[in-house]
Amino acid sequence: MTKSVFITGTSTGLGKLTAIYFAQQGWNVAATMRSPEKETELTQYSNIKIFPVDVTNVDQVKAATEAAISAFGQLDVVVNNAGIGAYGPLEFADETTIDWQFAVNVRGPINVIRAFLPHFRAHKGGMFINISSFMGVTTAAPTGSLYNMSKFALEGLIEGLYYELKPLNIDLRLIEQGGSAGNNFLANVIWNENPEIHDYDGIIRKTKDLMENAGPDILDDPQQIVEAIYAVATHQSTQFRTLVGTMGKSLMALRNSVPIEEYLEHIAANFA
Ligand SMILES: NC(=O)c1ccc[n+]([C@@H]2O[C@H](COP(=O)([O-])OP(=O)(O)OC[C@H]3O[C@@H](n4cnc5c(N)ncnc54)[C@H](OP(=O)(O)O)[C@@H]3O)[C@@H](O)[C@H]2O)c1
Repeated sequence: MTKSVFITGTSTGLGKLTAIYFAQQGWNVAATMRSPEKETELTQYSNIKIFPVDVTNVDQVKAATEAAISAFGQLDVVVNNAGIGAYGPLEFADETTIDWQFAVNVRGPINVIRAFLPHFRAHKGGMFINISSFMGVTTAAPTGSLYNMSKFALEGLIEGLYYELKPLNIDLRLIEQGGSAGNNFLANVIWNENPEIHDYDGIIRKTKDLMENAGPDILDDPQQIVEAIYAVATHQSTQFRTLVGTMGKSLMALRNSVPIEEYLEHIAANFA
C-alpha cells in the first residue's frame, strides 16, 4: 500500500526538499504551508496535495489533518519541520518575539501531534519525526538562547512523550542537523536589537559573522538531511536521535568528552 506523509513548513528549505523527495520515492505527500497560493513547484507533483497550515493555529492544524486523512485514507508519518529563529540578546527581545519562538517551534509540534493522535491510535501505529537541531542538544554561540530554549523544549517534549506513545505503537524520532544550504532560515531570523546599549556589541558581531558568513565547511548538504529523514521514516534507521552534519557532530563530540563547565568556557572563548 502507498505510504503517506504529512509535513509542516514546506514552502521553502528542508520542508520543501523533504516533500519532493518523499513524492519521488512514491509516497503520497500532504505538504502544508502558510501561503499555498504562492506555491508553484510542489503543485507539479500529482502525489503531493497542499493544505494551508500555520502551526500556531490549532483549528487550522485540525482542519488540515482531517483533510489529509480524507484525501489519503491513512497517514503513516508526520514530519514536524516548520521552525523559526530569534537571535540577539534576551534582554532586547520583544515580549511577542519570545512567545512567537515558543509558539512556532514547540506549541506548533504539540498542535500537530495532538491533532494526529486519534488517527494514529485508530490505526494502531504511526510515526512523528521532529526536526530539531544540534541546538536542541547543545549550545553553540551567544545570543541564541531563545532558539536553544525552543529546540531543547522540543527534545524534552518528544523524549517525555516516548513513554506514553510506545505502548500504542506510535514512534517518535528527532533529527538534529545544523545549518544547511538553500533555505530561508537566516533571512527569517528576528534579531533582538537595542541601538542604545552597546554592552553586547562584541558577541553580537561575532555571532552574526559566524551565521552570515557560514561557508561549505559549516553548512551541510540539505539532501543529506532529507535522506536521513527518509531513512527514519522507512525504518532503515532505528535511531531515536539522528545527529546529522559536520558542526553538530564536532560540538557533540566535544560536549560528551569534557565537563559542561569546560565546554561552556570553550564556546565562550571563541566569542571573547
Ligand atoms: N537552517 C538552519 O540553520 C537550521 C539548522 C538547524 C535546524 N533547522 C530547523 O530546520 C527546520 C526547517 O528550517 P529550514 O532550514 O528549512 O528554514 P526555512 O527555509 O526558513 O523553512 C522554515 C519553514 O517553516 C515555515 N514556517 C515558519 N513559521 C511557520 C508557522 N507559524 N506555521 C507554519 N509554517 C511556518 C516557513 O514558512 P513561510 O514560508 O510561511 O515562512 C518555512 O516553510 C526548522 O525547524 C529549523 O528550526 C534549521
